[in-house]
Amino acid sequence: MNAPLSVPVTSDVPALHFKQMCFEHRGHCLLAPTTLSLSGCQRTLVMGPNGAGKSLFMRLAHGLLPPTSGHIEWEGTKPPVQAMVFQHPVLLRRTALDNLTYTLAIQRVPYRQRKALALQALEKFGLSGLAKRSARVLSGGEQQRLTLARAWLLKPAVLFLDEPTSALDPAGIKAVEDAVNEFHQQGTRIIMSTHDLHQARRLADEVLFMYSGQVLEHTPAQHFFDTPTSVQAGAFMRGELVW
Ligand SMILES: Nc1ncnc2c1ncn2[C@@H]1O[C@H](COP(=O)(O)OP(=O)(O)O)[C@@H](O)[C@H]1O
Ligand SMILES: [Mg+2]
Repeated sequence: MNAPLSVPVTSDVPALHFKQMCFEHRGHCLLAPTTLSLSGCQRTLVMGPNGAGKSLFMRLAHGLLPPTSGHIEWEGTKPPVQAMVFQHPVLLRRTALDNLTYTLAIQRVPYRQRKALALQALEKFGLSGLAKRSARVLSGGEQQRLTLARAWLLKPAVLFLDEPTSALDPAGIKAVEDAVNEFHQQGTRIIMSTHDLHQARRLADEVLFMYSGQVLEHTPAQHFFDTPTSVQAGAFMRGELVW
């Protein structure tokens, strides 16, 4: 944990297995039984229209919510280091710098090293000038970059991002996409949801397409965009998906 930020994390990311994972609420099946595995250091884009169940899937996968039946299992003896970035940044009512040193404190990084590491991360995400600014008054794009800087400090093997750009302008979107690619180049598996087809085309190695609480496709990106097998995915890509 105390290694310099430039040291790449391992690309040997354990597989994540979903076995008949299901989520029900008050008798309604919100996620139909799902069996699939995510492996390797890929960028998996979870796609689908609003209400498809993308956020639900992400929360289950990250372990924020237990499935009502079925299992989620990481290969190996213990789960890898994971981080999650949400659509609406969740930050402490403190300065940008303090948000990062707090994360390092929780990670038990020695006190003397925290400020330098936090400043490096702020610089990496273009936030150097905002170190002393209260995180809550930063713009949406700045806040999202701060959550990415915080995730960077954790050196996650797996990074979940749930529609991280849907409230951002084009420059903000580009900054997040660049950061996603940088995490990926460092050996982090990316699992990111989006309803933005263009974004998925830019980033995806593989696609997990959801519709109405079901994972309808899990395929390499090129295959998905060239020849989607489900009627719903085809309609989604033509902008014709009707509820
Ligand atoms: N914890 C929960 N309890 C009850 N209903 C939920 C819960 N999480 C999501 N839902 C419902 O599941 C459906 C899928 O929601 P969501 O995963 O947010 O879709 P998406 O992210 O694709 O827009 C919605 O109808 C939502 O209201
Ligand atoms: Mg969502």
